[in-house]
Amino acid sequence: MTNSENNNVLNNAENEDPCVARLDEYAGTLFAKKNRAFGYPINHKSRLVQFYKWLSGSGLNLAMANNAGDPFNIHDGLLNTLVFEREVIEMMGPLYGFDLGDTWGIVTFSGTDGNNHGIYFGTNYIVKKTKQRPVLYVSDAAHYSSMRLANLQNLELKLIPSDIHGCMIPEEFEKALVPDKPALVVFAMGTTFKGGVDDQAAINAILAKHPEIPVYRHVDAALFGGYLPYTRFKDVVYRKVQPFDSIAISGHKFFGIDEPAGVFLTSMEVKNNQIPFEISYLNASMPMINCSRSAMSPLKLWWILKHTTKEDFTEQSEGMLERAQWLKGALDEIGWPAWLEPMSNTVYFKRPVEEIADRYGLAPDHDDRLGGDLSHIVVMQHVTKDRLQVFVDAVKDSIG
Ligand SMILES: Cc1ncc(COP(=O)(O)O)c(C=O)c1O
Repeated sequence: MTNSENNNVLNNAENEDPCVARLDEYAGTLFAKKNRAFGYPINHKSRLVQFYKWLSGSGLNLAMANNAGDPFNIHDGLLNTLVFEREVIEMMGPLYGFDLGDTWGIVTFSGTDGNNHGIYFGTNYIVKKTKQRPVLYVSDAAHYSSMRLANLQNLELKLIPSDIHGCMIPEEFEKALVPDKPALVVFAMGTTFKGGVDDQAAINAILAKHPEIPVYRHVDAALFGGYLPYTRFKDVVYRKVQPFDSIAISGHKFFGIDEPAGVFLTSMEVKNNQIPFEISYLNASMPMINCSRSAMSPLKLWWILKHTTKEDFTEQSEGMLERAQWLKGALDEIGWPAWLEPMSNTVYFKRPVEEIADRYGLAPDHDDRLGGDLSHIVVMQHVTKDRLQVFVDAVKDSIG
């Protein structure tokens, strides 16, 4: 524990409120698990300690701010942090190839919320241009949110089989393509379990054979969208190279916000072709799905972006990829079946005994093509080599 983390615990221990005691106890159990929380893409190295210090002294914690409204069309009604939200979008847009002045976006509640906006904006855009609803194409290895959202938004869904690496199979996409309906393609840029990255160029080459099909491309880059811009793989999430229309990135994964949040980015062209909802009491057109939105998560993301240099993010990203390679190599050395996709920080492997899987919070999966039960480790900022070594030793001991 660092000193600042310790301080919180010590301050609370002097408080006699039984709720504080109960919360302290619960926080203690969470803390104990933090350093071996390997199974999910969460950055446990929060950079928000100073933010909370500022917040508790600022008075803002005594006010209710709400970002109902458009960060690019700010109104003065509700207390809000829309100015900071807009700055977040304008800081992040260029990372993904959006030009300033042609970028629109919001800070979302989560990766799923970002995908919801991508699919909703894509559908509206296509309907506006073609008067037809699109078919949604996504791989069966993509995060389940796209399938749920196809259902929610009443879209015809084509679930495209994925290969052994967790990537959409282009030939299967071609077979599934409906020639007389517009296409809304969701590219998975980092599938949740295997870390496969859909081959946008191959799918686009198939679409290019069908110029009559109008296409909207949304990228689900919940985790990988955080770190890829700081690596040699940056072009796969850069729309000047891969021509996508919108992208969703999580804020609580790579960027380390301490509550679910994300970012949805698109172009002004897409934003300006949505269903107009002119809401008089907000004095605005409301293209986004939600009315009330968090005023706090934009501030946290703004704080993190302002206090982390490009060099820091690059070091974090390269470190994660390098440690993932190291883990794969270490598992190879002890003869434990393991796999790692090229742009990925997620090593997946034969599921270890339950005791180890539980200890490290490892999510289960299954693939008969790889011998059955699997788990993975998402090598985030807090997943250090020392901690990984302890894990590898435990797996080695379990082999006997
Ligand atoms: C690829 C991908 N997309 C979307 C999501 C959903 O993100 P959230 O949990 O922020 O809704 C996840 C979550 O792990 C994911 O891995």
